[in-house]
Amino acid sequence: MKCRFCGKKAYIKLHHPKMYLCREHFMEYFERKVKRTIEKYRLLGKGERILVAVSGGKDSAVVSYVLKKLGYDIECLHINLGIGEYSAKSEEYTKKQSEMINSKLHIVRIKELLGAGIGELKTSRPTCSYCGITKRYIFNKFAHDNSFDVIVTGHNLDDEASFIFSNIMNWNTQYLAKQGPLLPGEGKFVKKVKPLYEVTEREVVAYALAVGIDYMLEECPYSRGATTLSYKEILNQMEEKRPGTKMNFVKGYLRKRYLFEQEVEKRELKECEVCGMPSSGEICSFCRVWRLKKPVELEVKEVKR
Ligand code: AMP
Ligand code: FES
Ligand code: ZN
Ligand code: ZN
Repeated sequence: MKCRFCGKKAYIKLHHPKMYLCREHFMEYFERKVKRTIEKYRLLGKGERILVAVSGGKDSAVVSYVLKKLGYDIECLHINLGIGEYSAKSEEYTKKQSEMINSKLHIVRIKELLGAGIGELKTSRPTCSYCGITKRYIFNKFAHDNSFDVIVTGHNLDDEASFIFSNIMNWNTQYLAKQGPLLPGEGKFVKKVKPLYEVTEREVVAYALAVGIDYMLEECPYSRGATTLSYKEILNQMEEKRPGTKMNFVKGYLRKRYLFEQEVEKRELKECEVCGMPSSGEICSFCRVWRLKKPVELEVKEVKR
């Protein structure tokens, strides 16, 4: 098959809209789509200091690569979760990826910061749950303490569609009030954005391959993978029968999101007694999980303006 624009040999067949593209035209298509997402949802403002959270995986590697290519000045943050070989390898990938795009990489190592890795802490919470709390807290506190205006993550259309799907299946309606390509900042919460919101996982993989990005394939050993994966599989089957299903589902959700807003308990946020960050209780979940007596120090001296 031939590229729809130049007639060269096709690199990929897209299903929605249906077309064949050569490698160059696919790259152009992908980058334009990300640029349009950024413009449409006003994800990034002029002069904002951008921090990209990079895991070593394909999504965050691709989002940092494309942002750089679109002319954004970015810095990256990797959290080494202290999960043995898996984390050591992830860190290596983020180093290679940052070198490739010539961007500054900050690394926070959980074991050094908190004395134990993810999976080593004695708590009744499931590992993935306190891992999530830890990552979200560090993304935000690092960005806040080092005066970044926005945190970028690599979430793609498949991630978003399966997140919405699983939360509807479980009627976790309170989680459905606040998802989207942009979570505005408020007080000490730094704005969070997802520039890959409208590209599929398949497109991200094809783009990484097209530009030669090397990324971590292994899943985290504690991955809650199974259920998320089955939701992704179901959505992919539906997508195959009816191309555009995922995009319609997510866009429909964004239009109807307001319906879930009343589900959110409006609780006044206080300041955590330990770290001073916003919290619904006296002590925030991060300081509680890690039983902290004083705040973690994340300020990077040379970054501060
Ligand atoms: P996940 O929840 O693993 O699908 O990751 C979603 C996004 O969070 C990724 O695309 C990254 O932007 C970010 N992320 C995940 N793990 C890490 C990590 N260890 N360090 C920095 N960013 C991460
Ligand atoms: Fe957090 Fe696996 S990445 S538990
Ligand atoms: Zn072409
Ligand atoms: Zn706290």
